[in-house]
Amino acid sequence: MKTKAFIFDLDGVIVDTAKYHFLAWQNVAKSLGINFTHEDNEQLKGVSRVQSLELILALGNVQITDEQKQEYLLKKNEEYLTYIDKMDESEILPGVMDVLNFLKENKQPIILGSASKNARPILEKVNILHYFDDIVDGNDVSNAKPDPEVFLVGAKKANQTATNSIVFEDSVAGIQAANSAGMTSVGIGEKTVLNEADYNFNDFTEISKDFLLKLINQ
Ligand code: G6P
Ligand code: MG
Repeated sequence: MKTKAFIFDLDGVIVDTAKYHFLAWQNVAKSLGINFTHEDNEQLKGVSRVQSLELILALGNVQITDEQKQEYLLKKNEEYLTYIDKMDESEILPGVMDVLNFLKENKQPIILGSASKNARPILEKVNILHYFDDIVDGNDVSNAKPDPEVFLVGAKKANQTATNSIVFEDSVAGIQAANSAGMTSVGIGEKTVLNEADYNFNDFTEISKDFLLKLINQ
């Protein structure tokens, strides 16, 4: 059996936190008098907290001072953390545990590659922090996806080359980051949205052991 680095995004791949990000951003948008829909929220997936606020401001063509931006970022995260605080194992997305267990049994490095600065507390809340050999999150990198930095750092931590790395992602920015790093990209979600991915699945229940073995031994 060969060894590869298996790099997982967090939000929308392991847990469905996109709904919590949305609720918190929607309240920020409301305070700013900006209409913010579910559709607009798609653009925020995989995007850092600061850039998400910039996108919302651009959407409403609203300008605020840097000080106000800091206040809104703080307000957004405080609300988001109240949702996170209530999370448990039941919020792990379908099929994720089977894939993680199979990779662990086959001694494959499991790495987290997320833009979130809340990655560790979320993994702790849903009780799977111990599955990860390393975590690269929003606190460790300065360039947000679609820049490949987060995944390149992740591969390095697993002592693997980019070509020996596989990325699971639910965002367009994340798939682009994996592709530009020269990694194998696996899109989790709408194929029409994630059409740049090397492989597409609606969720992890569609990922078979044979497919994982193929990735490991390719
Ligand atoms: C992920 C999510 C984004 C979020 C970003 C930063 O990439 O998909 O929606 O804005 O992480 O998350 P944070 O928890 O640091 O605000
Ligand atoms: Mg994501």
